[in-house]
Amino acid sequence: MAREFSTVGVVGLGTMGAGIVEVFARNGIDVVAVEISAPALERGRATLKGSTDRAVAKGKLAEADRDALHERVHFAVGLDALHSVDLVIEAVPEHLDLKQRIFAELDRVCRPETILATNTSSLSVTEISVATSRPNQVIGIHFFNPAPVMKLVEVVRTVVTAPEVVADVEALCARLGKVDVTINDRAGFIANALLFGYLNHAVGMFESHYATREDIDAAMKLGCGLPMGPLALMDLIGLDTAYEILDTMYRRGGRDRRHAPVPLLKQMVTAGLLGRKSGRGFYTYERPGSPVVVPDETTPLATDVALADGARAIAKVGVVGSGTMATGIIEVFAKAGYEVVSVTRGMEKSAKVCEAVKTSLNKGVVRGKLAEADRDAALGRISWSATLDHLADVDLVVEAVVEELSVKKALFASLDEICKPGVLLATTTSSLPVIDVAMATQRPADVVGLHFFNPAPVMPLVEVVRTIRTSPEATATARAVCAALGKTGVVCGDRSGFIVNALLFPYLNDAVKMLEASYSTADDIDHAMKLGCGYPMGPFELLDVVGLDVSLAIQRELYLELREPGFAPAPLLEHLVTAGYLGRKTRRGFRDHSHR
Ligand SMILES: NC(=O)c1ccc[n+]([C@@H]2O[C@H](COP(=O)([O-])OP(=O)(O)OC[C@H]3O[C@@H](n4cnc5c(N)ncnc54)[C@H](O)[C@@H]3O)[C@@H](O)[C@H]2O)c1
Repeated sequence: MAREFSTVGVVGLGTMGAGIVEVFARNGIDVVAVEISAPALERGRATLKGSTDRAVAKGKLAEADRDALHERVHFAVGLDALHSVDLVIEAVPEHLDLKQRIFAELDRVCRPETILATNTSSLSVTEISVATSRPNQVIGIHFFNPAPVMKLVEVVRTVVTAPEVVADVEALCARLGKVDVTINDRAGFIANALLFGYLNHAVGMFESHYATREDIDAAMKLGCGLPMGPLALMDLIGLDTAYEILDTMYRRGGRDRRHAPVPLLKQMVTAGLLGRKSGRGFYTYERPGSPVVVPDETTPLATDVALADGARAIAKVGVVGSGTMATGIIEVFAKAGYEVVSVTRGMEKSAKVCEAVKTSLNKGVVRGKLAEADRDAALGRISWSATLDHLADVDLVVEAVVEELSVKKALFASLDEICKPGVLLATTTSSLPVIDVAMATQRPADVVGLHFFNPAPVMPLVEVVRTIRTSPEATATARAVCAALGKTGVVCGDRSGFIVNALLFPYLNDAVKMLEASYSTADDIDHAMKLGCGYPMGPFELLDVVGLDVSLAIQRELYLELREPGFAPAPLLEHLVTAGYLGRKTRRGFRDHSHR
């Protein structure tokens, strides 16, 4: 029979500890909440109060339940108050020596049968456990931030954790309404091992001025459907904690350079810019502990910056190509009121594209999202052509032909001859260097990348790629066009994967490597990312949707361009592609889809 936990102790009431106290108290368990000093205790109490008050204000918690919750929590300074609890969770800063000292002390203070748990994100639970005389009763219980909200708990067993302790803790997680995944003691467990390389990479992009904080965050939210961007997430985690986690993962996890903390992080920590908890990190907050971002000196002005920077007026747009992307892009521009010239390689293809655009617009009408008159007006704005000569008087050309450099270069050379001066020339390439197509023209300053996402009419993001030759006016024009389309345009440099793919695919590749190393299962890894980090799909679900061949090709390009050893494609991914298991499109990828 599972052990009853009627009273638990929580040590450290910071970002995580205060949330963990709330989780237990909400579920009818008495909590002894411990801090190092009276002021820290008061801060912890205030955090708990703030969180439960917000829950009441949002109608998620009854006032009476909040009061009962608070009555279950007993606050104290010092570990001695934990003498009779059934289980302790430690959530003090991520330092091994500190945690070992606390565990040695807990071992002395607590009853012999008490389970001692750590909420560490990256340190070795085994090393913490040997500071006690009861390593078999030491376990990792890794909650996710914010603890009351995120459903996942990673239960970490060491080689000596007693099986009944694991079973008792699993039962406790279920009682708390959490989903647990039980795993062995490895740096970063599942979620952080997959998350922190990505977060550090995003910080590196910011540090090198590859893109702004707003654009990096918007790209990942809108391009991948994540609940928050990587820099906002770093602020939530706390930059000091994130630094320690990266540093530990670097040292414990095979010295992967991707985990070596980006130098900016250390500087920010030293300067006291710790994220939300200190009121300032990558963003500035209303006050310490507040989730409300306020404008600061780097916030983009609300006024139309694009126009101020000399954006050119665009009325008539040419779209070259006849595939999925071209079709979607024609629809997007026509719906937004632009006059569109579609150019394909023949009238037959034009007829097909025209049908596809009509079908898509009709769907909008059937779903009540588009008035019939607006559909007709949009179609009326499109002219269909099979010759580039019809692009002589457009203001913008969007190229969406086959992803082959020679084809694109030849096309841009022709556009250079045909188009009037001052035209913005854009490529939708997702993997070729934009500068290569720009240099096929005599006007590289007017060439940008406009990387739409599929399906273009639905996805709200466009990556605006500026090369080292792109003029500020061209970038401003591209950004203004995105805004006029109702999309968010994020500006970035001309590097493989731009923002979204460069941050997304190495993470997916890492998940494959984790599976390959038999650390966990595809189901548990998918669960961990969805329930622990709020991702809309787990990595293996997403890989099967995107296609393993496509994913492998992108990962190879990233590896070849950046020469980062950690980006080398996972052998398992290569083997699955060789075997023809490409994902949903072949009914088999990481999972078998033949019966669905
Ligand atoms: N921040 C996250 O998103 C996150 C998520 C999961 C796990 N974790 C892990 O949780 C642990 C705590 O991280 P955090 O972000 O909450 O840190 P934090 O800095 O926000 O809070 C740590 C708290 O511990 C207190 N403390 C320090 N020494 C103490 C002592 N001797 N006795 C009692 N209290 C003491 C501090 O006063 C502080 O309030 C770390 O191991 C971290 O890796 C963090």
